[in-house]
Parts: sequence; C-alpha cells; structure tokens
Amino acid sequence: MKFFIDTADIKEIREAAAMGLVDGVTTNPSLVAKTGRKFKDVLVEICDVVKGPVSAEVIATTYDDMMREARDYAALRNNIVVKIPMLPEGMKAVRTCAAEGIKTNVTLCFSATQALLAAKAGAAYISPFVGRLDDVSTDGMQLIGEIVQIYDNYAFDTEVLVASVRHPMHVHQAAMLGAHVATCPLSVLIQLCKHPLTDVGLTKFLADWQKVPK
Ligand code: E4P
Repeated sequence: MKFFIDTADIKEIREAAAMGLVDGVTTNPSLVAKTGRKFKDVLVEICDVVKGPVSAEVIATTYDDMMREARDYAALRNNIVVKIPMLPEGMKAVRTCAAEGIKTNVTLCFSATQALLAAKAGAAYISPFVGRLDDVSTDGMQLIGEIVQIYDNYAFDTEVLVASVRHPMHVHQAAMLGAHVATCPLSVLIQLCKHPLTDVGLTKFLADWQKVPK
C-alpha cells in the first residue's frame, strides 16, 4: 500500500519523506491557498523533493480550459499527475489526457458509479473522499470497498486513492480493503506511529536503564 501526503507545505513533505512515508503527494486549491505561494513554484519545489506522483488540480470546469491547464502542469515535471474534478467535462479531459500519456487523478468522488466512469475514461487514480462522506453520516469506507470490488470485477488499472483521510482507522480499513493508496495529512502519518503502550513501555525501559550499573 502506498502512502501519499495530502499537503502543499514543503516542510511537512520533507518531514514525512525523512520517515520514508511519502510515495507521492496530493494537493488541492485549498491546500495551496494555505501556503500563500504561487502554485507552479510550489509544484516544482515539491517535485524536486518527491519523485513519485504529485497531483496538481485544475481550476477550469470546461474541457478546453481543463486541457490547457493539464498540458501546462504536465510539462512542468514528468511525475505530475493532473487532478480533474468528477464532471462530464472532466471525463472528456481524462480521456484526452490518457490518449496523450498524461496521468490523471479524478477528484471529488463520492459514489461507486462516479468511480466506474473515471476508470472507463482512463484515470490513473480515483480519489473517493471518505472523511467528507463520514461528515454527512454516510460510510466513507463502505464506498472504498465497493470501488475496490468493481475495479477487481473488471480488471481496471485505475488505482483507488483514499482521500479526505482524517484518522488512523481510515488507513487501517483502507489497507484491509486493498485500496492502493491512502493520502494523509502529516498529523495522521504521525498518529499512525503512535500507541499508548509504546509510550508506557519506552518510559519503563528508560527508567529501568537508570538502575543498570555504568
Ligand atoms: C484529496 O486529494 C484531497 O486533497 C483531500 O484529501 C481532501 O481532504 P479534506 O476533506 O480533509 O479537505
């Protein structure tokens, strides 16, 4: 299972990369806005640190404009994956990108049928937002199970990229269900390392070590 980091903050990316937890990066307009920097500057800097897939989201909502942005981002670095919203115009752009060898990540997926369409259009990744579904009393992880099964049924190559991850249980369940990727904020990657019994055990080991003659 691959771990991506869900941030546009270069410091966070470097910290997670040092722990070996960055197989790729996902960004979105909200995350980029938090940096206060120009998007292309941020993208290039991320790609200098991370050699795996780096998702760059288009802002356009029409086919022609999406394709203009997609080609522009894809030309920046060869590991850039263009993130395209789940819209009818977006599906056209995903098809053209696939034909041109530009990888895409279809974002804002909230149903299994949306995921089916993205795979048929030739998306490299589908991003179902599990946390936002949980927020509206709908089981996000159930959707992941359904998409994994549908993709298996028809041997689609599209990878299931679990997005809007809020806590370690999302990652645990994603792994149990066979999702290909979980994209997590740095806080969740750090939480994954933690267990209260690890802390208790370490405190005791360090205290006992003081009793060892030196
Ligand atoms: C995914 O690619 C998105 O950037 C992200 O996971 C959305 O997460 P949020 O629902 O916590 O904003």
